[in-house]
Amino acid sequence: MGPESPLRRLLPEPGGTTVGELLEGYEPERRAPERRPFVYTNFALTVDGHATIDGRSGAIGSDTDTAMLVALRTHPDAVMIGAGTLRAEGYGRVVADPAKRELRERRGLSPDPLMVLVSNRLEIPWDAPLFAAGAGDVVIFTASESEAPDVATPVEIVRHRDRVDLVAALEELRGRGVRSLLCEGGPTLHAELIAAGLVDELFVTRSPRLAGGTGPGLVTGLEAHTRDLELLWLCESEGELYARYGFRR
Ligand SMILES: NC(=O)c1ccc[n+]([C@@H]2O[C@H](COP(=O)([O-])OP(=O)(O)OC[C@H]3O[C@@H](n4cnc5c(N)ncnc54)[C@H](OP(=O)(O)O)[C@@H]3O)[C@@H](O)[C@H]2O)c1
Repeated sequence: MGPESPLRRLLPEPGGTTVGELLEGYEPERRAPERRPFVYTNFALTVDGHATIDGRSGAIGSDTDTAMLVALRTHPDAVMIGAGTLRAEGYGRVVADPAKRELRERRGLSPDPLMVLVSNRLEIPWDAPLFAAGAGDVVIFTASESEAPDVATPVEIVRHRDRVDLVAALEELRGRGVRSLLCEGGPTLHAELIAAGLVDELFVTRSPRLAGGTGPGLVTGLEAHTRDLELLWLCESEGELYARYGFRR
């Protein structure tokens, strides 16, 4: 399964499409605000709203969902995750397929998106494949004074006082030429970005599964306050729903 994965588009106009076709022409960098990147997020959830099965996200979505995530990674200048997601998922190089890196270059992007990590405590699993890959650049925003060990992938640490200030972090990234950023979670970072008004669009996969239990959902710790979203598209494949929402401002 790849960009050719078939989808049934339900909204806005019904019809057949593929993951690649759906995202073709998605140019988030063109919509970058002046002081921060355009931010879009991607999550896979069960029908009962859980973002994990047995502590990880892998068992939630289908191969088509993976194809969607891989395709979404071919569009941004940067990919951001919280340390909790790195600890749980053990990330590697985010655009692992050379053909996808070439596709990014044809779009005028760097072959590897800048990898952005957020960790107040700098509790980083330094043995994650991401740091052994030796390719791409990693920036870590932290409030810790600890140092990073020597790893193959270039890592830069940006220190904030007391706590990472996400507004300042995104402003700094924008200043470095990051026009678009895909946030892949997790729920804590997602909630903080939304609370700070820093998210523009939400890509949500709803898989036809129930997880039960007490795993986290789309957001952890988001204060009660209704935010209105606009459904921009809805697609289906084998009972799995792929929605794209925009935040109404
Ligand atoms: N279904 C999905 O699509 C999906 C997507 C992503 C993750 N997940 C799952 O979500 C779970 C992890 O949840 P989580 O809420 O712990 O993930 P998370 O948001 O990635 O990580 C939380 C940690 O990130 C750091 N962090 C987050 N916001 C920060 C901020 N504003 N400033 C500074 N540091 C910040 C802190 O790290 P420190 O503790 O190091 O200070 C915090 O403890 C995992 O089980 C993962 O599999 C699911």
